[in-house]
Amino acid sequence: MKTTLRIGGSVLGSPPDAKVVDGYADAVAQLNSEGHSVAVIVGGGDVARKYIGSARDMGLSSYQQDTIAIHASRLNARLVAMKLGGVSSVPTSIDGMLLRLARNRVAVMGGLRPGITTDTVAAIVAQRWHADMLVKCSDQNGIYTEDPRKNKRAKKLDKVSYEKMKEILGGTHRPGIHSIIDPVAVDQLLTARVKLVVINGFEPKGVLKAVHGERIGTVVS
Ligand code: UTP
Repeated sequence: MKTTLRIGGSVLGSPPDAKVVDGYADAVAQLNSEGHSVAVIVGGGDVARKYIGSARDMGLSSYQQDTIAIHASRLNARLVAMKLGGVSSVPTSIDGMLLRLARNRVAVMGGLRPGITTDTVAAIVAQRWHADMLVKCSDQNGIYTEDPRKNKRAKKLDKVSYEKMKEILGGTHRPGIHSIIDPVAVDQLLTARVKLVVINGFEPKGVLKAVHGERIGTVVS
């Protein structure tokens, strides 16, 4: 099976936390040993947002803010790639990523281009690679009826349709946006129709459950 794994910068730590990366390295190694291939897409997290803040304060454009944040995500991705894939470079294009995935059972990349987040990068990779599923490792337990940080009465959904997800998570891109799935990625996923599972990324073993089809997080299909 082909799995695209999107690890949020807010989960990974920025710079990446060794313990969290170890947890993902174990999960990916187990998936590889079961015959699964894994495309890992890493976010820029706090470091990216600090660079965005500096760029904004300097009066730089949104495009420039995004551009600098992409470099932060690639730096995180390089560190993760050293541990997970035994390589120290990361692809900067979808074609480059697909080439690596054709040769290896695991490949890691960060950001792609301004105007999106790595959620969208993961959605594009999943679509172009014909992945069986996309697992978003987020800082929440899944998708809620509303933002649980704003409304304590928000309920976690075990299953949701793509259309309902768009209703809940729709909007527009802005540099540094923090959403369970960014709005551009929601549109991309609506086209790709890849099975999406949103899980709590602080427990990397959850990835195994998601891939094995066990009940976890929110399944979007
Ligand atoms: P990330 O996708 O790196 O966020 O986008 P993250 O840290 O993992 O976020 P969480 O944990 O899911 O919340 C951070 C910022 O980097 C720029 C955008 O400004 C985005 O908001 N970015 C990232 C791009 O412009 N293009 C990309 O391809 C990736």
